[in-house]
Amino acid sequence: MDKTANFIGNTNCQHVNNHINSKLPNVGTTIFAIMSGLATEHNAVNLGQGFPDFPMNEELYELVAKAMKNGFNQYAPMPGWMPLREAIAEKVEFLYGKAPDPDKEITITPGGTYAIYSALTAILHPGDEVILFEPAYDSYIPNVEINGAKAIKLSLVYPDYHIDWVTVKNAITERTKAILINSPHNPTGSVLGEKDIAELRKIVSGTNIFIISDEVYEHLIFDNIPHQSILRHPDLFERSFVCFSFGKVYNCTGWKLGYSIAPALLTKEFRKVHQFNAFSCFTPSQVALATFLKKKDAYLSLSGLMQEKRDHFKMLMKQTRFDLQESYGSYFICGTYGKITDEADKDFAIRLTREFGVATIPVSAFYNEGKDDKVLRFCFSKKKETLEAAVEKLARV
Ligand SMILES: Cc1ncc(COP(=O)(O)O)c(C=O)c1O
Repeated sequence: MDKTANFIGNTNCQHVNNHINSKLPNVGTTIFAIMSGLATEHNAVNLGQGFPDFPMNEELYELVAKAMKNGFNQYAPMPGWMPLREAIAEKVEFLYGKAPDPDKEITITPGGTYAIYSALTAILHPGDEVILFEPAYDSYIPNVEINGAKAIKLSLVYPDYHIDWVTVKNAITERTKAILINSPHNPTGSVLGEKDIAELRKIVSGTNIFIISDEVYEHLIFDNIPHQSILRHPDLFERSFVCFSFGKVYNCTGWKLGYSIAPALLTKEFRKVHQFNAFSCFTPSQVALATFLKKKDAYLSLSGLMQEKRDHFKMLMKQTRFDLQESYGSYFICGTYGKITDEADKDFAIRLTREFGVATIPVSAFYNEGKDDKVLRFCFSKKKETLEAAVEKLARV
């Protein structure tokens, strides 16, 4: 037998498999995949995963088709289609007071998650620490750890999930490279207020700490609360990567298109990572959005539409034995179930799907150590009929 073939075909593979030395040894199948699988298996109403089940704006997909027909089907420039970056700059100026430089400060990315990953990868070195808050969107910790850095996980204070800034201050070390914030917040629907921004400012001023601000739900904020974008605060922006998602804004999460806004020097580093990863994003949707973004009503009406859904869901849920917490933004509202059972949230969420036909997400899944306050997350970004069908089932629990 040919020795080389044997080596490559068997021994070496075995050797390689045994020595892969996972960079993310603790990452397994996420609860989102598990719950969605269960939802399909049991034909359950899916209030688990965060995506709308209603159609996106028809005009927007017509604009995409038009862009394709007009021949915009080749690589877009690495930082993104310039007219789209210009439209974003205009929008940011209108909303938050100061236009970022479309040439040097805005980069179009395949989604918000990718923007966050690229920002972290641009700044992190092994041994660095990133302060983040749990419950946390599930990509944050792996995104930090794959860069050899350490996630310093601080719990938001239950039950209203606010940040305890004294704890943040005490967690700062000379290795603190960044603080990662997310408002409006997934999974809890909490939002940062002016006081939070003032506390953040006190903590970072005079340090080299970066801020990564996940603002993918910027337009999904309710009760006339102003969104505290980092872009409103030039002194904080100068150390920040601010990350957005068109998927969340225009009800097309499957598009996976977003962007990062960061000062020129930071953007330069960000683009070094992006350049050799995705390089550029789907061109037709960028061309379409460059036009669509100018329609202010399309994004200004979002909070009202989503607030109606939240209120309708809250009203319907009064028929059940769940107690909903407050949600001031995002697609989500959390609820406790102490009147029903003292089961662990994961067990209860699984039983709820199997026996009652409604999928939710247990909030312990958003904690690395699985902290269980016995809370479930419900996604209300659904058609009225979907919410009503779900609550009819939940009322039987
Ligand atoms: C807090 C948060 N950030 C980022 C994202 C992802 O955005 P995208 O789908 O554009 O990557 C999500 C999606 O669920 C999210 O909840």
